[in-house]
Amino acid sequence: MNSIKDSVIQKIIRSFPALKELASVSAFEVPKNPEFGDTALPCFRFSAVLKKPPVAVAEELKKIFRDDTSFESVENTGGYLNFKYSRKAFAESVLSDINDGSVFERLKEEGSGKTMVIDYSSLNIAKEPHIGHLRSTIIGNSIYRIYDFLGWKVIRINHLGDWGTQFGKLIYAFISWGDEKELGKNPVRYLQDLYVRFHKEEENDPSLSSAARDWFVKLENGDPEARKLWQRFKDYTIEGIKKTYDRIDVSFDFYRGEGYYESGAKDVIKMVEASPVSKISEGALVIDLEEYGMPPCIVRKSDGATIYSTRDLAAAIDRHNEFGFDKMIYVTELKQQLHFSQVFKSLELLGYDWIKKAEHIGFGSILGISTRKGNVIYLEDIFDEAKSRVLDIMKDRDIDETQKDIIADKIGIGAVIFQDLSRSRVKNIEFDWERVLSFDGETGPYLQYSYVRIVNIIQKSSAVINGMPDFSLLTDDVTYELIKTMSYFESKIRSAYNEHEPSVMASYLINLAKEFNRFYRVNRIIGEENDVSESRIFLLIALESLYRRCLQILNIPVIDKM
Ligand code: ARG
Repeated sequence: MNSIKDSVIQKIIRSFPALKELASVSAFEVPKNPEFGDTALPCFRFSAVLKKPPVAVAEELKKIFRDDTSFESVENTGGYLNFKYSRKAFAESVLSDINDGSVFERLKEEGSGKTMVIDYSSLNIAKEPHIGHLRSTIIGNSIYRIYDFLGWKVIRINHLGDWGTQFGKLIYAFISWGDEKELGKNPVRYLQDLYVRFHKEEENDPSLSSAARDWFVKLENGDPEARKLWQRFKDYTIEGIKKTYDRIDVSFDFYRGEGYYESGAKDVIKMVEASPVSKISEGALVIDLEEYGMPPCIVRKSDGATIYSTRDLAAAIDRHNEFGFDKMIYVTELKQQLHFSQVFKSLELLGYDWIKKAEHIGFGSILGISTRKGNVIYLEDIFDEAKSRVLDIMKDRDIDETQKDIIADKIGIGAVIFQDLSRSRVKNIEFDWERVLSFDGETGPYLQYSYVRIVNIIQKSSAVINGMPDFSLLTDDVTYELIKTMSYFESKIRSAYNEHEPSVMASYLINLAKEFNRFYRVNRIIGEENDVSESRIFLLIALESLYRRCLQILNIPVIDKM
């Protein structure tokens, strides 16, 4: 391992063995003011062990690095030890840390042994899909990838909306007007159409309402015919949406809809009934949350049925029993914040202390997104639309048509995903196809294009990398800036993780692309002296591997041609 930070830590521990437990590479911070240096080690936490104020500690530690040629300067500013690297040592440290994989291994250890459960995408069967499901899928998947990158074991659950009175309507509609073949063709849309038709016919014939209700009661009571149809609707829907998920490289460990927790929900009702925190209000069984400034959490409706929150109470308990998670995350629109606060508080009152490990990760809306097909937004419509627009842009490109089709699909997907992840998740997004698909500016296509450029240079170069290149050739200003940006990867992924904010990685990748393009404008790679070419290629190999990982974390398709 070659990192400067590592050697700093080792030197400190050699001089002060008492700091063995406290001093670690992850303690370094990016200095608040770049003038101070390239990296900073806060000395506050060493104070107690060394029995000195932080400023005095920093002063002591500073002495260790008096003759260290890795640094241009080491300064103590108010208890922070600020290191300014010598550019050569810096290039060597950052690039070899990436090229020998140490940085990735180090990050992979952080979550090792820990389990996270994430509930995202969670479409509803029959009910209109909405744009929130697109965002939940994209944001949820990126959060999963961040945790996975940090070595967590992640359990991905698609909590399908597959229970509730709409299934009575759907069963009635299917028995009356349904067509098995049509269902097989495009189940998601077909069920939605049947659902819409039911509501239309119901206006003329109110008896449909009670017929639908009867079917739902049958479903709840385990009537074989109702169950069989329900299961079929579910299987078809999952099969249908899996195609879209596959296309955008999203997958789940479990499709566990609300129906899965139906029997658990019955147990929850019994448990809540017996608990002193519950009461009956207007015939419904509720947990009173007035003291916490929230409306009551309804556990059983006055007609005896369970609701969305009952099933979420059951789901949380079930997941904890099965996975014993260290963290559980729900990714939905901000609109559901109150729902989750109620569920979490109720579980806490019922004595489930582990619910403190759960968190609702909310996000804002996308405004102005529409496709040529109309207003109801199905996930695949958005990606189809993006693809057809990219094909328009690429129509004069001289690429084999099949290839072009594949590439256009990936550019379209990358564009939509980047747009979604580019801003802090709680913000609303104004969607504008032209801007999203532009090849320059802060867009998915720009990111993919820059990546293709990096790969092409590496492929075209004839430089042979044998061992370490001459790092003193990587010390000019633009190269230094690029390497510095590369060195931020570690701290960026940690903050993306801490804040559950993929946008941190999105803006980081934009910076990385910009710095690379600046570097590329100024520094030729092919046609330079051998040792210059070699050192620059060594740099680009590191950049490619870092860049590719950022694309993967964001779930932007990695392409090497466009
Ligand atoms: N199906 C719900 C919806 O579309 C989202 C489910 C989120 N997850 C949960 N455990 N409640 O609004």
